[in-house]
Amino acid sequence: MTFTKILVRKNIENLSAYVSGKPIEEVQRELGLESIVKLASNENPYGCSPLAKESMLIEMEQTSFYPEGMAPSLAEKLARKLNIKQDNIILGNGSDEVIRLLTRTYIQQDDEVIMADVTFPRYETNVLIDGGTPVKIPLINGVHDLQGMYEAITEKTRMIFVCNPNNPTGTIVQKEKLRSFIEKVPKHILLIVDEAYYEYVEDEEYLETLPFLNTHSNLVILRTFSKIYGLAALRIGYGLMDVSIIQELIKVKEPFNTNRLAQAAAFASLDDPTFVAQCARKNEEGRRYLENELSEMGLTFFPSHANFIMVKLNHPGRYVFEELLKQGVIIRSGHLLGYENTIRVTIGTPLENERFIKSLQNVINKTLST
Ligand SMILES: Cc1ncc(COP(=O)(O)O)c(C=O)c1O
Repeated sequence: MTFTKILVRKNIENLSAYVSGKPIEEVQRELGLESIVKLASNENPYGCSPLAKESMLIEMEQTSFYPEGMAPSLAEKLARKLNIKQDNIILGNGSDEVIRLLTRTYIQQDDEVIMADVTFPRYETNVLIDGGTPVKIPLINGVHDLQGMYEAITEKTRMIFVCNPNNPTGTIVQKEKLRSFIEKVPKHILLIVDEAYYEYVEDEEYLETLPFLNTHSNLVILRTFSKIYGLAALRIGYGLMDVSIIQELIKVKEPFNTNRLAQAAAFASLDDPTFVAQCARKNEEGRRYLENELSEMGLTFFPSHANFIMVKLNHPGRYVFEELLKQGVIIRSGHLLGYENTIRVTIGTPLENERFIKSLQNVINKTLST
């Protein structure tokens, strides 16, 4: 028998590779620009805690030894901080990996997974890879339509994703609505609440989901060290869930999914709540600055509770992205995120925010004068 083509799995054939925020090095190479500001991937502009750096230096002596597969010291410390049991925690190579583990473990051909349209794209991609069918319910004014998502449940539904705050809009769902949603969703459907930007939220309308873990065995909460802890490069995040789910995920998980440096840095970061509080405060100040400036420019945006803002424009996001890039400012064009005439900008340091605003003003002036 002769084959002419290496066969790829059907589910993969029509997928496209993920397009991430443009890296600084790439823009430097392509445009020959010296000074570049990256406000594209919702990273922490203040880096990470000095305690994390110190602990990585020490841990470097151990790089010839595999890490502990379940990161027990880190899991134990997290459990104490969150006041939950250690066996309700699974560490992942970023919360990205926990998403992947969940779909790999629970989704098979034709299973339905409900999510918002638009939300974090990795939910859809992982569901497709595993043969499932994403059921996408449009946001209402940038906010999850929980009623619509509830009504979309069928006998094929296996999983529901709620991204809170939502990426890319930065919005949160109302406390009471999420509370009653958690109560209503049938217990055989996994309800995954992604709280990657949890630490940035200051609004009283935000629901604390942790207390529901004990009573709702289908609830999964995702968090990460990539955002406010500033450890995106190390790839470490976690999921909180019933032990019965974790027992299934660990059958699928790579044995050494989180590396030693990541475990050590995350462990040490938990000893520096001041760093986290300062980042949250500076982010809040930056958000207010950006919102004021954008409003003065006559622009509107979704009300953000995270470390980024999605700005509505009169021009295609792609065009504004390219014009900003020429000025050394990298943001995300909304066309890649499901909203044509928008851009998503990460809240940076005060200097970075000012540079973004000035550059955006230049782009708008340029288009007005042509
Ligand atoms: C909503 C959301 N969930 C999960 C992630 C993945 O984070 P990580 O894999 O770095 O923990 C991101 C990253 O941008 C995100 O925005």
